[in-house]
Amino acid sequence: MKKLFIGGEWVAPAQADGIPVYFPATGESYDEIARGQASDIDSAVKAARAAVNGLWGKTTATERGRILMKIGESVLANQEELAGIEAKDTGKPLELARKDIQALARYFEFYGSAADKVHGQVIPYLSGYSVNIVRQPFGVVGHIIPWNYPAQMLGRTVAPALAMGNASVVKPAEDACMTSLRFAEIATDAGLPAGALNIVTGYGREAGAALSEHPDVNMITFTGSPQVGTTIQTAAAQNHVKCVLELGGKCPQLVFDDADLDKAIPVIVGAIVQNAGQTCSAGSRVLIQEGIFDEVLDRVAARFRELRVGGPDSAPDCGPIITHAQYGRVKQFIAECLDSGLQPVAEGSFAEGTAEGGYYVKPTLFGPVPRDHKLAREEVFGPVLAAIPFKDEDDAIAVANGTDYGLVASVWTENGARQHRIANRLEGGQVFINCYGAGGGVELPFGGVRKSGHGREKGFLALDEFSHTKTIVNHYQQ
Ligand code: NAI
Ligand code: MG
Repeated sequence: MKKLFIGGEWVAPAQADGIPVYFPATGESYDEIARGQASDIDSAVKAARAAVNGLWGKTTATERGRILMKIGESVLANQEELAGIEAKDTGKPLELARKDIQALARYFEFYGSAADKVHGQVIPYLSGYSVNIVRQPFGVVGHIIPWNYPAQMLGRTVAPALAMGNASVVKPAEDACMTSLRFAEIATDAGLPAGALNIVTGYGREAGAALSEHPDVNMITFTGSPQVGTTIQTAAAQNHVKCVLELGGKCPQLVFDDADLDKAIPVIVGAIVQNAGQTCSAGSRVLIQEGIFDEVLDRVAARFRELRVGGPDSAPDCGPIITHAQYGRVKQFIAECLDSGLQPVAEGSFAEGTAEGGYYVKPTLFGPVPRDHKLAREEVFGPVLAAIPFKDEDDAIAVANGTDYGLVASVWTENGARQHRIANRLEGGQVFINCYGAGGGVELPFGGVRKSGHGREKGFLALDEFSHTKTIVNHYQQ
């Protein structure tokens, strides 16, 4: 059984029973992780606090940056090992796992090189006063992360927190935490002082709840379901601490009748099938202008029929769903669509040799989907695309902005003025014009509005999120 990583070392959990780890491509269990309890979380928070008050808290921004860049380098040096761990834990295609590990490295490079470029401000004030604004870390940050991009998510949330001088306690998802455990060792070997990064595995309702409720945690970040987001924000409110939430979406891809379809179609399909649709920023709705609806649907359908589902090593377009439970949810959603009278327009198929017992779902295209249908409004978190026709710009915006979510959107049009008009009116944290980034690169601020959450991660803005300003007023007289 894997142990917990607290204060720079492996620590036995309070509870002896672990949680089995499954390979989603076969459904077989191959290891066990610790089932962290409130007392383990408390030890981790104490270790993080000691780091903030000790060596880590005294490190200069330049030194922190250097350590983070070194971590990025070590991640790259161990890329194949980490990608293998990630692919086995999540079932995702090995090539995608490699990209995720590269992104993990990139987060540490990006925030490592940014750590000492965060400058303060000087404010002209009354005569005889000097006023400076400096940025300070919050102290101990609690990170509760999901299973869909475990490695990327770890980098995305921990690297900027550390860059600003915070210490982190991470509660990875019980369904995928193997990479974070190995990463903790790599980071420590690269010079990260003890206690700066602590990993406590366990269930959300146990370790996760204990972390979000802990009175000595100064800030919380969470990515996951809207329901748990509410629980975590409530816990944060009880302690009056800052909370950043990223809670998913029903992201629209708008296709106008002047779009370059040769360019658009593969990107539209890729935006939903990447990671088997288990992406908060998956492009799960394609909104198509009436006059070209049939043509676009046909072309998307042709592409869907070519899609192959399989295990990490079969170079599939789509891997399995993460767990048996999530698999059940996705299958149930599709069954409800069929019951309601929706007909699948096209489906992918299983790659040769795809194991029985794996949690595979064929990518499925539905359309035209009525605007008030559950599939047009709710997140499936699986490889299911809803095609919806629209009339004109106003109509497209009404449908695009017409769900509870607002995370990412894209627009396909060759008309430059329309590109600006539509980008302006789409509600969410990122808009892509004639491309789709599924959350985009490390450099691009990312986050949502409404039920998609609030706060921003990625890019320079994340450094603001993981720090607060302090205004220092000095009356030096004349
Ligand atoms: P979840 O929201 O339960 O899990 C995400 C993380 O929160 C995990 O680390 C989990 O252990 C933790 N957690 C769960 N309950 C908690 C609690 N009471 N207190 C503190 N932490 C807690 O998501 P789940 O059940 O794995 O997936 C359900 C749905 O959530 C998916 O179908 C999808 O729609 C959405 N989801 C969205 C993600 C995103 O990227 N925005 C990622 C994962 C899930
Ligand atoms: Mg797993």
